[in-house]
Amino acid sequence: MALTVFGVCSLSLPAQSTQHLTITQPGGMPGLPVMTGISRLTNGMQLTWEGPSGYYQVFQKSNTLLNVPWVALGKATNLNRTATITRLYTSAFFRISGPAPKYAGSKACLTCHLNVCSVETNTAHARAFVSTNFANYGGQYNAACLPCHTVGYGLPTGFVSASATPLLENVQCENCHGPAANHAASPDDPTVVPRVELASQVCGGCHSASHSTYTNPPTYEEWMTSGHAAVVPDTLSVMASSTNNIRTCGVCHSGSARLAMLDGLNPAVTLTKDYNVPITCAVCHDPHQTNSYPVQLRNPPASTNYFALTSADTASVAAFTNKYNANTDINLCAQCHNDRGATWTDTSRAPHLSVQYNFLLGSVGELLGGTATFNPGNHAGLPSSAAYSISGTFYLTNQCAACHMQTDSRGAPDHSTMITSDAVCLNCHITPPEILQDYYLTPAISNNVITLISAMNQWAAVQTNSLLATNGVVAWEYTTPGGLTWQTNSLGYVSSWSLANPVTFTGPTKAGQALIPDQVKRARFNLYLVLNDGSMGVHNPSLALNLLNAAQIWMVQLLQ
Ligand code: HEC
Ligand code: HEC
Ligand code: HEC
Ligand code: HEC
Ligand code: HEC
Ligand code: HEC
Ligand code: HEC
Ligand code: HEC
Ligand code: HEC
Repeated sequence: MALTVFGVCSLSLPAQSTQHLTITQPGGMPGLPVMTGISRLTNGMQLTWEGPSGYYQVFQKSNTLLNVPWVALGKATNLNRTATITRLYTSAFFRISGPAPKYAGSKACLTCHLNVCSVETNTAHARAFVSTNFANYGGQYNAACLPCHTVGYGLPTGFVSASATPLLENVQCENCHGPAANHAASPDDPTVVPRVELASQVCGGCHSASHSTYTNPPTYEEWMTSGHAAVVPDTLSVMASSTNNIRTCGVCHSGSARLAMLDGLNPAVTLTKDYNVPITCAVCHDPHQTNSYPVQLRNPPASTNYFALTSADTASVAAFTNKYNANTDINLCAQCHNDRGATWTDTSRAPHLSVQYNFLLGSVGELLGGTATFNPGNHAGLPSSAAYSISGTFYLTNQCAACHMQTDSRGAPDHSTMITSDAVCLNCHITPPEILQDYYLTPAISNNVITLISAMNQWAAVQTNSLLATNGVVAWEYTTPGGLTWQTNSLGYVSSWSLANPVTFTGPTKAGQALIPDQVKRARFNLYLVLNDGSMGVHNPSLALNLLNAAQIWMVQLLQ
């Protein structure tokens, strides 16, 4: 085929950003073209549409009259699902014609994708039509239910009925990858290789409350409101500034970078532009389920071992692969929400905002007796905790998910990751936890933080060495200051702090850092740990207070 020429040229072609599914449609990956946008350009129009892989052709018509013909625009071999149109009528109509959907069913994929098929057929997806529950609700004969419980219902060659199209029952490969019979028939044809789509929109076509009359949990809608639904803008610019950052920051901040690394690829090379995919469903769930964790999770929801992803672990893909493979049994959330190996001897930056797992287990921070190695509080959900089992019931066995993914109104885990109710807390606490938090813990932490900062400022104020006491230098800060700017809540306590506020001071240079006493280094480390954890102590109340207490003692020693 002449198309192999593309393969040869592709290395020298400029990288294009990959198109991602932007719409949700019952059934997952659309089987037919759907127009998604028309926007005006200075010299024409930009059309975009969605649909499976294959050739597309755009047609234009000058008005709605029946006898006016549709005129083909551009080549009939458009593979990009977007077209720029310059020849315009005043009121034009557009039509997209695409590959006729041809569904095959997963049995047709078996010969070549045996490893994927044999695991995928063990998932709940592979039982979505035949399950007793679905049958009992009459779903098997209800047209309103079939798009999400079968392959290609309502489309040519798609599911019709259990007797006519038994191979298209249940959720299968083609719900996520699009119709693939043409690919199965000619696997070497690059124009029909099925789409591999990481966007949550594929899953959101079915895992959504808005598309179904059945009581579906609004999983997609909840996820859309979570911090996981967008890549942090600051990290986007850092990744844009150097491709290596696509690996070193993207491993936690970009879904596409992370999944490439899980496949052993270097995203700094393979994704020059396509790192703007957030933490989508497929980042936490393995759609093919290649392990045995519940609900297709890539890692378990809880663990007790120390874990941190250090900069050495992301220095190369091989290093990451080794680290990941040795730690697949570490809590899913902890794969990213860990301290990155921060220690009190660091001088350039404060510990990252991701320290939650280590904080929960009490495996980070400087205590009076030495470095904390394993000081879990009652919130870590561990058997060693006094509150682990109350009258034989275990409450926090899912660790992070137990508090951050409580069941929503439809009885499924809430994917917004917000603490939505007191219910989980009230399993153990009699006092409403908000009261505990707002009237006890937050004020205690807040007061300790204020006392500590004033002690550190007192020490800084008497420094005379120019490396520590030049204009605007805060002597106790990191080289790149952590950005302490305080926000007080309605009760007048420090409730949170934000990097978003402009930093108006600098920290000592590398040479200056060498002059800072260990007590100050330990104190600032503890201070930032407690704040950057983001829970104002809730993740591990006793650790938080002990860290601040130790820091104050060191500062008092120094000031005496
Ligand atoms: C006769 C062998 C064969 C059959 C049958 C087959 N495939 Fe493939 N498939 C391939 C090959 C070879 C590739 C790699 C093509 C490439 O990268 O250009 C591929 C690629 C893919 C990809 C894209 C992988 C990527 O990394 O981009 C998907 C998705 C896929 N196949 C799904 C399916 C589905 C679904 C079926 C069943 C309907 C199927 N295949 C049937 C051989 C086959
Ligand atoms: C928009 C897509 C969509 C439509 C339409 C839809 N469902 Fe579902 N259904 C789902 C998804 C997604 C789940 C899994 C939800 C989860 O586990 O969080 C599900 C789960 C179920 C379950 C529980 C699965 C089991 O085996 O226990 C039943 C029963 C069910 N659906 C019945 C129906 C019925 C009956 C209809 C029609 C009235 C219907 N569904 C329409 C997407 C859909
Ligand atoms: C629930 C959605 C879903 C289903 C069902 C599904 N896939 Fe995938 N598939 C994905 C996603 C998302 C990726 C990319 C993420 C990844 O690599 O893990 C992917 C990746 C792939 C790849 C690329 C290489 C690889 O192994 O990661 C192939 C090939 C593939 N799928 C084939 C199949 C086949 C064949 C089936 C049916 C037996 C299937 N998929 C079922 C969502 C799905
Ligand atoms: C065509 C509709 C459809 C698409 C697309 C789809 N799902 Fe599902 N999913 C379902 C249905 C229906 C069920 C319930 C099956 C059952 O329990 O009978 C389900 C169940 C699940 C479960 C529960 C597994 C378990 O063991 O209980 C998970 C997790 C899941 N889906 C994740 C995903 C992810 C991630 C994607 C996208 C990569 C996705 N789904 C795409 C329809 C879909
Ligand atoms: C080990 C995983 C991991 C790595 C590696 C990582 N981060 Fe983060 N980062 C996180 C997590 C998790 C959060 C969110 C914590 C929170 O919201 O409390 C975060 C938060 C942030 C924030 C604050 C976002 C906000 O909404 O205020 C910025 C900025 C940031 N990271 C930048 C970076 C940069 C730049 C890099 C690369 C040099 C990087 N991160 C590497 C896990 C990581
Ligand atoms: C940050 C990680 C993460 C992301 C992103 C994520 N999930 Fe989940 N999901 C989980 C965890 C953890 C659980 C199990 C929670 C529990 O059992 O307490 C879960 C559970 C589920 C379940 C099982 C529901 C049930 O009733 O048991 C489904 C279905 C599901 N997720 C679908 C999705 C879909 C669809 C998306 C994308 C819109 C998504 N998830 C994104 C972590 C994630
Ligand atoms: C692939 C990496 C990754 C995984 C896995 C992950 N997160 Fe996150 N999480 C992040 C990043 C990056 C952010 C920061 C997003 C932002 O600030 O906009 C974040 C943000 C959050 C936030 C919101 C913080 C805020 O400022 O609003 C919470 C809460 C959270 N994650 C909890 C969880 C829980 C619970 C799990 C496990 C079920 C989990 N995360 C799994 C990377 C991850
Ligand atoms: C005992 C319940 C509980 C457990 C367990 C728990 N958290 Fe939290 N978390 C909280 C509370 C309460 C807050 C304070 C913010 C709030 O109310 O949403 C919080 C705050 C956070 C924040 C900062 C949110 C923000 O808006 O800045 C992140 C990120 C986070 N937790 C992640 C995690 C991760 C990851 C785990 C597991 C390692 C975990 N949490 C375990 C209760 C819990
Ligand atoms: C498994 C039982 C359990 C659950 C669930 C639980 N806690 Fe706790 N919590 C405890 C115990 C026991 C203590 C006291 C010992 C300690 O410091 O760890 C405590 C301490 C606290 C403290 C510090 C006040 C004090 O008395 O030391 C706060 C604040 C707190 N919890 C808030 C929460 C919040 C908010 C939630 C829900 C998001 C929650 N807890 C869920 C058992 C639990």
